[in-house]
Amino acid sequence: MDDEARVQDASGARRKPDRNLALEIVRVTESAAIAASRWMGRGDKNAADGAAVDAMRFTLETVAMDGVVVIGEGEKDEAPMLYNGEKVGDGSHPQVDVAVDPIDGTRPTAYGRGGALSVIALAERGTMFDPGPSFYMNKIAVGPEAVGRVSLDASVRENLREVARAKRSSVGELTVIVLDRPRHDALIEEIRSAGARIRLIPDGDVAGAIATAWPESGADVLLGTGGTPEGVIAAAALKGMGGELQGRLAPHDEAERARIVDAGLDPDRVLSHDDLVASDNCFFAATGITTGDFLTGVRYTNVGAITHSLVVRSQSGTVRFISAYHRLEKMRQYHLIDVGPDLPD
Ligand code: FBP
Repeated sequence: MDDEARVQDASGARRKPDRNLALEIVRVTESAAIAASRWMGRGDKNAADGAAVDAMRFTLETVAMDGVVVIGEGEKDEAPMLYNGEKVGDGSHPQVDVAVDPIDGTRPTAYGRGGALSVIALAERGTMFDPGPSFYMNKIAVGPEAVGRVSLDASVRENLREVARAKRSSVGELTVIVLDRPRHDALIEEIRSAGARIRLIPDGDVAGAIATAWPESGADVLLGTGGTPEGVIAAAALKGMGGELQGRLAPHDEAERARIVDAGLDPDRVLSHDDLVASDNCFFAATGITTGDFLTGVRYTNVGAITHSLVVRSQSGTVRFISAYHRLEKMRQYHLIDVGPDLPD
């Protein structure tokens, strides 16, 4: 379908811009980020995560949609909140798949380090990859210029050469984002021997993938193994930002591999961007919990909290930054969200 056909309806009239759900779900990540930020630096990952999940769930109920959580906080029995298969939203149109990560960066939140986000992605019902029992995924993400030029089946050297060509640059100019983990020692050596530069990140490969599609980030490629849910969520964000993400499931051991196969998934197959999120009609929102490359973390003034968020809609390709000023006193009365200021000792 060409661009002109895409903006016309069946009668040939130009289609009006329709509802942008990303502008509604940003309230969900704002409330989760505020709740999580109350626990920043207190050293308690689970308390931060629990607060973010509660706030996210509470606000999700107000969104006009018929959502099913495809990527949540685990199976029903293990996590009563936002479990896979849970229905969210008020039940009205549209029908969507929902992927949530109330905190991407529980460690940075708990230890007061930078780059933690609260994120959510929506896509048309039935179009989001269900990772089943897979926890880890090997990923490559690139920005708009390099779409269609890379493959997880190619070597690191070949991929970097292609990205450099696509960007009319040289491999030596490229910056590759890699999660700082011992499992990436060999990958880091390969990137170095190909001649590219590396930015090691302690956590947060959703933000790392997004950075490849953001012109001012100075990042060109994300490589390495991170969470499977984070891979699907980043794929939804990159649909709107014009980038590409491919993945291959990366089981830890033979038992996990067997569980993946039993679930009907192929751990050896490269999952294309469309395999991860088939729809081109998806929405993404992220709010900073602690300050990172794109988003400022939650800050407090004497009246309330200031949040900074990114919202993306794939159909229009619009990327927005939203600063919001929340009066905590009102939030407490009106939302009943636990926004502090008093926390248990
Ligand atoms: P959590 O906050 O959910 O722990 O995720 C943080 C994160 O850095 C992700 O961004 C990344 O995909 C994953 O952890 C990597 O997993 P691991 O820390 O086990 O290497």
